[in-house]
Amino acid sequence: MNKVKVAVIGASGYAGLELVRLLVRHPGCDLAALTSLEYPGLPFSQIFPALAGIVDLPFSQESEEEIAARVEVVFTAIPHQAAMGIIPRFLAQGCRVVDLSADFRFREVGLYEKWYQAHTAPELLEEAVYGLPELHREEVRQARLVGNPGCYPTCVVLGLAPLAQARLLQPDSVIADCKSGVSGAGRQVLLGLSFCEVNDGFRAYKVLEHRHTPEMEQELSGLAGTPVKVTFTPHLVPMSRGILGTLYAKLTESRSEGDLRELYRQFYQGHPFVRLLPPGSLPDTRNVRGANFCDLALRVDEEGRRVIVLSVIDNLNKGAAGQAVQNFNLMMGFPETLGLETPPFAP
Ligand SMILES: NC(=O)c1ccc[n+]([C@@H]2O[C@H](COP(=O)([O-])OP(=O)(O)OC[C@H]3O[C@@H](n4cnc5c(N)ncnc54)[C@H](OP(=O)(O)O)[C@@H]3O)[C@@H](O)[C@H]2O)c1
Repeated sequence: MNKVKVAVIGASGYAGLELVRLLVRHPGCDLAALTSLEYPGLPFSQIFPALAGIVDLPFSQESEEEIAARVEVVFTAIPHQAAMGIIPRFLAQGCRVVDLSADFRFREVGLYEKWYQAHTAPELLEEAVYGLPELHREEVRQARLVGNPGCYPTCVVLGLAPLAQARLLQPDSVIADCKSGVSGAGRQVLLGLSFCEVNDGFRAYKVLEHRHTPEMEQELSGLAGTPVKVTFTPHLVPMSRGILGTLYAKLTESRSEGDLRELYRQFYQGHPFVRLLPPGSLPDTRNVRGANFCDLALRVDEEGRRVIVLSVIDNLNKGAAGQAVQNFNLMMGFPETLGLETPPFAP
């Protein structure tokens, strides 16, 4: 198999580390450059000893132009705003880009600017493809620039997409009550994320203010053909990885659990990373750790009017790096599961 030379920009962060862990064993990939602002010149394995003897490549000291000249695909795993500052230069030199930040996830610049800041490369928003392969697989294959989805939107949109597309979601009824592990905030040092502040506690944050809300609404509205509002409350739980979404919605028409299971089965047929659990089973973040799966279960009330969907992902994998590799596979014409076959870490 021809190996594609790739660079990971921001390889010293958690999403970057997960990308490197996946890409180093990917049969179609040659890890050609890893970058970090803080550790240029140091071996990757010195910062992440778990990969000693596996990835000893030093963090690059080259300019972006030098990296672009010798790679085909660039993964940007750096904060929003910084990402849109460098991506146009990679594209201009002929690279294809999978961006893990929020900078290229929105179709409307106004929506991005309402929740983030002024966009410095708005001309690229039209061609950027929202990289949720279960919804946009064919566009991803052709994309030059993929805006890899946020972790919470991946969990919530995959959990509700079949209902939205079937016009079964009452558009103002959706409540997404989500819990995330601490790696969702990245590797940055913050007092509120230190061990004693997080361990043995459980709290909500950014209530009605979280920037992933408009991303969920964009994708669910697109599927439903009508504006869908999401009441989203994120919570921080004292675990390293994983997101559990408990998603409540009212249905526009009465349906049995069996009807909805069949709807989900058909919607996700041919999508290898979404697993609808057997009746009676409920998903657990443990069962997707380190893997690109989204596990789903659903329950419907007696009248067939109220549905609760349970959705779990690993925020660093299907919520970030795994999904980015899935997009890379589609862009390169590789099998969608290539390099993503390692089973979850469970238990
Ligand atoms: N964590 C998740 O679960 C998750 C899920 C989905 C998407 N994402 C997105 O993925 C991106 C990376 O997140 P993360 O969680 O991996 O964060 P992180 O652990 O804090 O890592 C950030 C990385 O970006 C680099 N960096 C920081 N500021 C930079 C700048 N101004 N210019 C260039 N590089 C810079 C850092 O390098 P140095 O430390 O060497 O300076 C580090 O490698 C973010 O856009 C985030 O929103 C994260």
